[in-house]
Amino acid sequence: MRTTLLDIRKMKAAGRRIAMLTAYDYAAARLADRAGVPLVLVGDSLGMVMQGHGTTLPVTVDDMVRHAAAVVRGSEKALVIADLPFLTYADKPSAVAAARRLMQEAQVQAVKLEGGRHVAPIVEHLVQHGVPVMGHLGFTPQSQHTLGVRVQAKEAACAKRLIEDALALEAAGVFALVLELVPAPLAAEISKRLSIPTIGIGAGAGCDGQVQVWHDLLGLFETSPRHARRYAEIGAAIEDALREYVADVQGERFPTAAQSAGMDEAELAKALA
Ligand code: KIV
Repeated sequence: MRTTLLDIRKMKAAGRRIAMLTAYDYAAARLADRAGVPLVLVGDSLGMVMQGHGTTLPVTVDDMVRHAAAVVRGSEKALVIADLPFLTYADKPSAVAAARRLMQEAQVQAVKLEGGRHVAPIVEHLVQHGVPVMGHLGFTPQSQHTLGVRVQAKEAACAKRLIEDALALEAAGVFALVLELVPAPLAAEISKRLSIPTIGIGAGAGCDGQVQVWHDLLGLFETSPRHARRYAEIGAAIEDALREYVADVQGERFPTAAQSAGMDEAELAKALA
């Protein structure tokens, strides 16, 4: 049974923190599921960590559908959420078209979109048509050329606006809200005011849950953002393994007889005759 929207609402009510993690492929989704990660986000961060772009902006609905479908195939228990890419929800028909592809072709259970009160009518429209929507406020990577990559809403007026945006999204029907690079006391205050769960990234421990990017948490790159904790050094482990593999091939230690397909001497003699 997959995690449901009701489950995560109950987790907030019971004060149980919610762990969310990004995943972009089948193998990662299987591992996340086995580890008991209840919410898996197929983030458009895949543009950076899977495709090597500098921002999330080049990611298309086709990219999202391909990765999200693999994640859904790899997971049985997680609620799988996929990002609606840049400019695919600027109007209601586009938002419906993108959400339809993600829910019908990739079979995700929910979508996420970025922005405050200006996207509330889009959220309401999707929710009314049966699409569960997660919101995303604070630093919203799709607007990074406008916002800059930095902590948002430090000034009183911006903080007030962020609270109003969070309330507008809740009223529009989002089932949860990501708060990215928001000052911790402000994120804690928003979490108290909302009945839906907040999921923080660089927003402190007062959020109802946390989200991390797969590559940051597992140390796949040389550096991770300041807000990430590296739970493993998988990048270094992979590099070591690959060096050993190259050395073994060059030193003729791989493959061994056990790793090779065998053939009966008589069969070989017959083949060569
Ligand atoms: O795209 C993504 O991975 C995200 C998370 C950072 C919340 O939106």
